[in-house]
Amino acid sequence: MGRDQTNHGGPGFSRREFLKGSGAAVVAGAAATAAVDGPLEAQQPATKIISAGPHTITLHVNGEDQQVTVEPRVLLIDVLRNDLNLTGCKDVCDRSTCGACTVLIDGKPVYACTRFAIEVVGQKIVTAESLHSPEKTDDVVTAFCKHDAIQCGFCTPGFVSAVRGFCDQNPGATEDACRRALGGNICRCGTYDGVLKAAYDTAQIVQ
Ligand code: FES
Ligand code: FES
Repeated sequence: MGRDQTNHGGPGFSRREFLKGSGAAVVAGAAATAAVDGPLEAQQPATKIISAGPHTITLHVNGEDQQVTVEPRVLLIDVLRNDLNLTGCKDVCDRSTCGACTVLIDGKPVYACTRFAIEVVGQKIVTAESLHSPEKTDDVVTAFCKHDAIQCGFCTPGFVSAVRGFCDQNPGATEDACRRALGGNICRCGTYDGVLKAAYDTAQIVQ
């Protein structure tokens, strides 16, 4: 799968589409795709032109608004890691393949290396960091510890985020469904068995 393809979470616009432009980002409204009768303007998708150069945007991350200044070409993963110091999501393949950069966007697992930061303004972004604090440990983190679903741990935040999102949407999921849900995350160390058990356990708690 190439880096320009969107995965894990629906429509976006690709880096290739973006880079085709000469210094300006074009964001088209996804719903406005069908041809309609009427004036030409009415037949065009709603389009927003975003100029090159720094833009100050507000991202809603882990329950808080965070203001950052970024160029339109900057990816979500880079803002999370470099601007907000949320280094749980890892930049491993950088081409929508491994899942190590998985975060939740509006509750769905999404590869953070496939989205521009400007693309997710107004959406709720949740990273693995929010799943554990001195006050509260999320069930998914407890399940990963219980089943020792970690080897080097590099891929773990992405897995934890993917499992959290899947279980929230699929309470009581079967083991087979959990296995399919883990298909977007590839661990180099071979912890799948423990991760699968952790995912199944978590899905049974979310009933
Ligand atoms: S770094 Fe994003 S999918 Fe691999
Ligand atoms: S635990 Fe090492 S890559 Fe998954």
